[in-house]
Amino acid sequence: MKFEKNILGIGAGYVGGPSMAIIAYKCPTYKVTVVDINPQRIAAWNSDDLPVYEPGLDAVIAATRGKNLFFSADIEAGIRENDIIFVNVNTPIKMFGAGAGMATDLQYWEKTARQILQYSRSSKIVIEKGTFPVKTALAMERILSNNKTVHFDVLSNPEFLSEGTALKDLENPDRVLIGFRETESGIKARDTLVEIYANWVPRERIITSNIWSSELSKLVSNAFLAQRISSINAISAFCEKTDADITEVARIVGMDSRLGNKFLNASVGFGGSCFKKDILSLVYLCRHYNLNEVADYWEGVIKINQYQQERFILNMLNAMFNTITGKKICLFGFAFKANTGDTRESPAIFVARRLLEEQAEIVISDPKALKNARNDLQLEGIAGKVSYIEDPYEAAQGCHAIAVLTEWDIYRDLDFQKIYGTMTKPTFIFDGRNILDHEKLFKIGFNVYPIGKPALVHF
Ligand code: UDX
Repeated sequence: MKFEKNILGIGAGYVGGPSMAIIAYKCPTYKVTVVDINPQRIAAWNSDDLPVYEPGLDAVIAATRGKNLFFSADIEAGIRENDIIFVNVNTPIKMFGAGAGMATDLQYWEKTARQILQYSRSSKIVIEKGTFPVKTALAMERILSNNKTVHFDVLSNPEFLSEGTALKDLENPDRVLIGFRETESGIKARDTLVEIYANWVPRERIITSNIWSSELSKLVSNAFLAQRISSINAISAFCEKTDADITEVARIVGMDSRLGNKFLNASVGFGGSCFKKDILSLVYLCRHYNLNEVADYWEGVIKINQYQQERFILNMLNAMFNTITGKKICLFGFAFKANTGDTRESPAIFVARRLLEEQAEIVISDPKALKNARNDLQLEGIAGKVSYIEDPYEAAQGCHAIAVLTEWDIYRDLDFQKIYGTMTKPTFIFDGRNILDHEKLFKIGFNVYPIGKPALVHF
């Protein structure tokens, strides 16, 4: 069968996999190929056990794989045979050298640019899809302009999807943003990408802008979202010192339609691969341009997030008579948020590390993230008495305390009377997500410590 367009996605991770799958799903007349430097990852995409968990993803893959969606480890052939290339490689925080711990590590991205340059035999549209710090498209253009016979147009097309709702976000996005260059071929490239999205996204939601605005908007969107969480979390600390209740405060604030009610849930802190990385990248760029006050302002968002996690641990310690040495603590949830197995930058990693430093014993429970949790502890060199038990009833048995770290729905509906019966007394529960019925838990016998509201204790 001859396809109307041949599209390649480089990078088969949390963004690349689902977003390429949706293009294939929505555009049956296009052929979509996804390649990755990691052959095991490709093998997993070709198996029944997909490497990424997202509600609805299985069905989309089942409908497209082998028809117009293909996963392959052959990057060279992929680049040669496709003229539209989405670059979905990961851009983690740089951990060494200049900008260590802040700047974005562009090594995978640059390797990809060089591969595109090396293997291309015809003109291509190259689309940067991940979050890249401002002006990387320019660097991409410069690398690619080293081939004088083949022409490349570079577009920026930041992905705004949020994990756990990736499929919904991709099928029905608030906006699709395309940054392009005002040249004849740049405009043509832009129109090609608009045409792809117009297969399922209403035209008025497809926004085009200059390439730098497009790159920067992605960082700024994430910085604003994270800033809201840090703002409400900062106020939660204040509420705990006074008689105010953060849920009430957030509800009242959120009813101002200018602000809206989203992203106002106080929590143990935000996690995920994007917020911290993007804000740090913004801070780094501000410092580069000598905007130190602006950099400090945004860095404050990250500092409050660290403070909130540390505060959570100190509250636990304080509540449990200033010693948790030898006590058994059960973590309900390890993923950075519900409906994903992703644990990148999850507050749970910090909590686990700190509890083990205090020589507590921890039991980690999570419906989807146990494999990642195990890897994280190993990679971060976090050692101590740790067990991994998926079933929450079994996990809590014999523990002194439960700490809720992820807002999984299953934790809302547990039989806490039964759980209480199997735990060591006095029994503590720290609700780092404010998802439980605190009054009810208190009546059962738990000492209850929510975020940003008075603790309910029996002593
Ligand atoms: C985010 C952005 O939302 C998305 O647009 C961008 O493309 C990628 O980064 P994601 O990291 O998947 O998406 O998760 P998100 O739902 O934004 O949550 C981030 C973190 O904030 C999670 O740890 C979540 O639990 C926490 N959070 C969120 C809160 O603590 N309180 C809230 O009110 C909302």
